[in-house]
Amino acid sequence: MRLAGKVGVVTGSSRGIGRAIAVALAEKGVRVIVNSRSDRAGGRDVVNEIVAAGGEAVYQEGDVTVEADVDTLLRAAESTFGQIDILVNNAGRTEPSSFESATIEHWQRMLDLNFMSAVLCSRRALKSMPPGGTIINTSSSRGFDANGREGVIAYSAAKSAIHNLTRTLAKQLAPDVRVNAVAPGFVATSYMDRVSEEQKEQWLDIIPLRRFITPEEIARVYVFLAEADFLTGTIVNADAGFTLGRG
Ligand SMILES: NC(=O)c1ccc[n+]([C@@H]2O[C@H](COP(=O)([O-])OP(=O)(O)OC[C@H]3O[C@@H](n4cnc5c(N)ncnc54)[C@H](OP(=O)(O)O)[C@@H]3O)[C@@H](O)[C@H]2O)c1
Repeated sequence: MRLAGKVGVVTGSSRGIGRAIAVALAEKGVRVIVNSRSDRAGGRDVVNEIVAAGGEAVYQEGDVTVEADVDTLLRAAESTFGQIDILVNNAGRTEPSSFESATIEHWQRMLDLNFMSAVLCSRRALKSMPPGGTIINTSSSRGFDANGREGVIAYSAAKSAIHNLTRTLAKQLAPDVRVNAVAPGFVATSYMDRVSEEQKEQWLDIIPLRRFITPEEIARVYVFLAEADFLTGTIVNADAGFTLGRG
């Protein structure tokens, strides 16, 4: 897909990976809807950055786990820019909990935010997405078989469901709409500010390339998938070798 002039919605794009995706798409000429649930300041900051660089973007607040908010978000893309060509389902979050201590509310919250949000946004976007459009979901290394982690079991299960959704939808929507996903490893976003140097060293020990990925690097994978007319049903494992395991 030639990206210039297309319209993209990036959920959870007020900071972190989503922010970098919004900026990277805008650099390619995509008109972007920036979104967050409550971080308005971050969202407006991203819009200002894009506009200052000569791009087009607007901010739309909304919780992607709430159907009415999802409708408002996608409607904003249609009314502001006329259509939706690219949907990036990025909003998500890990909350630690073991299987024994996880409450039903924890499971529901993790599934709603990390899985159902992609279902809701895709369902709504597909109502008006023209042929040639594309959906890019955000998974995690934790979503791969045997790579889920006990301490984040609900998050891992939700991201695993994203893999199945991606491939099933890709089959169903071909040849009109392509559906792919990115499964990042350790990306240096704000959660790393709350992590000790000792913990970071332990993580680096289990990453073969011994480095974290920057949001700007991972954003390049999303741009690649948006442009790649020959790919659908692909889950890009972008993890500095993490899922290879060590030893
Ligand atoms: N960072 C990593 O190492 C890593 C690794 C693998 C996968 N991922 C995945 O990558 C995605 C982004 O992660 P990140 O580290 O960039 O996160 P982040 O820095 O915490 O940013 C999350 C963004 O999502 C928004 N958001 C959260 N809940 C939302 C909701 N219900 N509705 C709308 N927006 C919402 C946040 O805004 P508000 O504050 O306003 O809610 C924020 O803009 C997630 O799906 C995550 O699971 C990250």
